[in-house]
Amino acid sequence: MGNAATITSVPSQADIAARVEAILGPMSLADKIGQLVQIGGADFMPGPKPDDVIRQGGAGSVLWLNDTKKFNELQKIAVEESPSKIPLLFALDVIHGYRTIFPVPLAMAASWDPDTAEQAQSVAAKEARAAGLHWTFGPMLDIARDVRWGRIVEGAGEDPVLGAAMAAAQVRGFQGPYPGAPDHVIACAKHFAGYGAADGGRDYDPVFLPEAQLRNVYFPPFKAAVDAGVGTFMSAYMDLNNVPAAGNPWLLRDVLRGEWGFRGFVISDAFAVGNLVIQHFARDGRDAAFRALSAGLDMDMASGAYLENLAGLVEDGTLDEAIIDAAVRPILALKVQMGLFEHPYADEDLLDQVIALPEHRDAARRAAQRSMVLLRNEGGLLPLSKDLKHVAVIGPVADSMEATEGSWMVFGHQPAAVTMLEGIRAKLPDARVDYAPGPEIRRDYPSFFEDFEPGKKKPAQTPEAAEAAFQTAVETAQGADLVIMVLGETDLMAGEAASRGSIDLPGRQEELLKTVVALGKPVVLVLLNGRPLSINWAAEHVPAILEAWEPGTEGGHAVADILFGDANPGGKLPVTFPRSGSHAPLYYARTLTHQPEDHFMYRSRYWDSPTTPLYPFGFGLSYTTFEIGNLKLSASQMKVGESLTVTADVTNTGSVAGDEVVQLYIHQRFGSDSRPMRELKGFERVPLQPGETKTVTFELGPDQLTYWSSSLGQWVQDAAPFDVWVGSDSQATLHAEFEVVA
Ligand code: BGC
Repeated sequence: MGNAATITSVPSQADIAARVEAILGPMSLADKIGQLVQIGGADFMPGPKPDDVIRQGGAGSVLWLNDTKKFNELQKIAVEESPSKIPLLFALDVIHGYRTIFPVPLAMAASWDPDTAEQAQSVAAKEARAAGLHWTFGPMLDIARDVRWGRIVEGAGEDPVLGAAMAAAQVRGFQGPYPGAPDHVIACAKHFAGYGAADGGRDYDPVFLPEAQLRNVYFPPFKAAVDAGVGTFMSAYMDLNNVPAAGNPWLLRDVLRGEWGFRGFVISDAFAVGNLVIQHFARDGRDAAFRALSAGLDMDMASGAYLENLAGLVEDGTLDEAIIDAAVRPILALKVQMGLFEHPYADEDLLDQVIALPEHRDAARRAAQRSMVLLRNEGGLLPLSKDLKHVAVIGPVADSMEATEGSWMVFGHQPAAVTMLEGIRAKLPDARVDYAPGPEIRRDYPSFFEDFEPGKKKPAQTPEAAEAAFQTAVETAQGADLVIMVLGETDLMAGEAASRGSIDLPGRQEELLKTVVALGKPVVLVLLNGRPLSINWAAEHVPAILEAWEPGTEGGHAVADILFGDANPGGKLPVTFPRSGSHAPLYYARTLTHQPEDHFMYRSRYWDSPTTPLYPFGFGLSYTTFEIGNLKLSASQMKVGESLTVTADVTNTGSVAGDEVVQLYIHQRFGSDSRPMRELKGFERVPLQPGETKTVTFELGPDQLTYWSSSLGQWVQDAAPFDVWVGSDSQATLHAEFEVVA
């Protein structure tokens, strides 16, 4: 089989357009419709075999297949036997790594370091492309303010500015210089739009978001992806304001193409075109196909509605063939730009060479270190001494490769992570490190992902076995000088179809934590999880808490690096930690109504619990200390449309090197609409040696101060006074003010 493409310069758009027309011209209607169809390649898919569909020209792309040899077999059928001989695009969810697994996206956002996210996705792209994949269904750009929603793990958290920075970085990492570049994959911005605001945090449930919320909060990461040149978009599953995202011309035509100038193609989410019937929107499959395509949805993922219905719709005059041509063009353009017509096949030996590259594992370890957030460190318990003689590692996820890698490890992926236990043992070669998992944790209702990976299904522990495991864990802790509890969630407890009503530590983990803490030993809590957890008791009683998220292949080493001081934690929370799942959505950038925050009545938001966050957005500690001061504005007044600069000095006042994420928040005191109490408008992760000072500079101008006004139904920059805070989290107190005048 021939080698992968070796194009080195960006192909000219005029050449591509000319080639697309030359390919499109002789295509039959059936050939064109085939290009708009993506089929599943997995064995569990019902219906005709992919080989036969491809041979008949019924597919332009294949997903849910992860096998280089099989890619080449199917590609051979497409380019030699199908009527149009057009090569296939192979697509898969490569979300946070292909073989070398990086921290989950929420963790990557906690690094507040877009460069690290870019590097991670470029490694993922290189491995995936070497395996023969062309296209990934990422990055996921859904802002999520409801911690119950399982897919919060796949995104960058609650904030549009952080989310937009992570979006652009991931697009650059996946795609390289242009969509289709060698050693890279085409990215897909998903799920457009609003999916993260599902009613009650229940996956797939409807979303009601006013235009101002969409434009000010939920759209910015998607717009940033378009500006970064993303090749494809995926529509979301749910109804947005009673119009399904897959059949929503306002989203797909007016905003995405009309306003933002997106020129790639849009794919549905899986089965979502067919789902338009389930959503009581389309009358039948034919109506669904018509309305989705008319709305601007180019490719049907796996529902079959396009393949079954589009030809009939054209033949009876309901649908103009020009609409089909318009949908086919950007798909062909990406195939041309990728060089697929010249080099359709994957090199079957390449992946083994690529995954062996040591820099991939180094990048994963560094990314994991940078994503971790130190939540508590009373009395400087951390970092630990490497002279410890006897340590107990306790918890159901402490030695779980699956929990270390996190979600989306499907379609034949073999878990291969360094677990927390292994990482700690490697760091303490001469110590005794005992381990006990304690009682197992599991979902009340199984995940459908278990059906994809039959090995994942295990019989539940009996209550007697769980009790015995509990006692063994306590005894194991009893014998040690120090206990590292590794608690949290398993890989399938966050992600798709993994929403929860409560965000407590699942199972008997908190009970075990309390029992172990009562032994009176020093206890460190390491959290492995894909969403904030309401660790209220731990936050007051466990001296050291490290949020390690789902840290990936090198996770165990990275956690040990942090616990034993070989790396200094510098991550910050990309999402507010509420005290209870029932407080969701709880986010920092809310508006204030009825009473000021310091009013005694403010507490009446609930009478039974404080609604302040357990940990605020942007929060995270370090082994060193920082001071942020000398806040200066280049002007105290400016006109609408003008800009000013904000500078502040950050100093490492402690005795070890460390990173501080300096964050800038603003507040507009009044305006055309009520404005949020605070909004993040700039951030920078600054590495500092002990005693070192650096100046951080931010710009505030129309890009930062303009918003979509509900009152006016348009973008506006108001003339108004503003507060500015610069500091180390969303509760920063270093303050200045300026005024924008007409
Ligand atoms: C998910 C998408 C994913 C697609 C393909 C859907 O269930 O919502 O995020 O890309 O499946 O695997």
